[in-house]
Amino acid sequence: MEEARKAMKTAYAPYSNFRVGAAVLGKSGKVYIGCNIENASYGLSICAERVAIHKAISEREGISAVAVVSESGNSQPCGSCRQVMVEFNPNADVYFLKNNEIVTTTASQLLPEPFLSAYIP
Ligand code: THU
Repeated sequence: MEEARKAMKTAYAPYSNFRVGAAVLGKSGKVYIGCNIENASYGLSICAERVAIHKAISEREGISAVAVVSESGNSQPCGSCRQVMVEFNPNADVYFLKNNEIVTTTASQLLPEPFLSAYIP
C-alpha cells in the first residue's frame, strides 16, 4: 500500500482530479507501480491498476498481489481491472481502501464468473 501511495503522486488526472496509485508484487518479489493516466479523449484514460499490471506482464513477470489506493480513501478496483487481474492470476491477493480501511481480498473474489479464455471456441 505504501508503494501504491507513492505511485499515486505521479497520477495524470487533470479531468477527474481523482488520483489513484497501484503497486503490483511480482512473483519474483519485484514491485511494479502504476498511476491513472487520463486523456482529453476521456475514453482513452487508463486505470492505475492496469498500468502497474501491464508493466509487470510486459516484463514477463507473474503477479502475486495488487494494492490500490486513492486520495478519497476508497479505491475499489473497477470491473475492467478486475477482469485483467483474473486473466493473469485469479488467486492474486488484492488490497484496496474502503472508507480509509484496508480491505484484503483476491482477484477471483472480486470478480465471480469472469469471462475466461477457456470459453473462446
Ligand atoms: N480509476 C483507476 O485508476 N482505477 C480504478 O479502479 C477506478 C478508476 C481512475 C480512472 C480515472 O482516471 C479516474 O480514476 C476517475 O474514474
